[in-house]
Amino acid sequence: MNLAIFLSGTGSNFKAIAEAIEQGKIPAKITLVASNKPDTLGLITAKDMGFYTTVFQRSEYPDGASFANYMLGILSEREVHLIALAGYLRKIPPNVLRAFSNRIVNIHPALLPKFGGKGMYGMNVHRAVIEAGESESGVTIHSVNEEYDCGEIIAQRRVPVLTDDIPETLAARVLKVEHQFYSEVIKEFAIRINKELKLND
Ligand code: GRF
Repeated sequence: MNLAIFLSGTGSNFKAIAEAIEQGKIPAKITLVASNKPDTLGLITAKDMGFYTTVFQRSEYPDGASFANYMLGILSEREVHLIALAGYLRKIPPNVLRAFSNRIVNIHPALLPKFGGKGMYGMNVHRAVIEAGESESGVTIHSVNEEYDCGEIIAQRRVPVLTDDIPETLAARVLKVEHQFYSEVIKEFAIRINKELKLND
């Protein structure tokens, strides 16, 4: 299975997935790493590690359709079967959603459907969880559709919120689980998609 990773930030989830693949834990290959910004740490890291990278910069295209066509073109060129969003902060164009129906996943650092939606990213999520007095948070992996954090939930893992937590301490505990959990879920996708690819061979 060929995997594309889209990111907008540090890229620690991307690195964890790349390491899991390297260690033979996921039967997949990362054939594309993309970001909406050229100077993202995650993209620079991917480039340094020798991965094929690209930038999806909407402002370089006259309209949404040509932007989506560029995205679709490169996904096809890199023979991508699954797209994993790992801290990607842009919406996916409708044409790409249609072409990759049930083949785009996202990771969210809380237990959706709570604490999701527009503006719910980074420390905002963990701050909201603590302010709501929740005793547990967690990680959600879900299918991507046209609304932020609203696609079908694929898997969740719980993480405790401690009484003395501040957003940063909770974020660090959740992120550690994310790194392990995302790889486990992508592994399941890879096994299933590899089987389908063999059948269609
Ligand atoms: C993670 O917390 C992920 O759940 C969210 O964005 C963050 C990305 O972190 N969608 P990183 O760039 O993988 O370090």
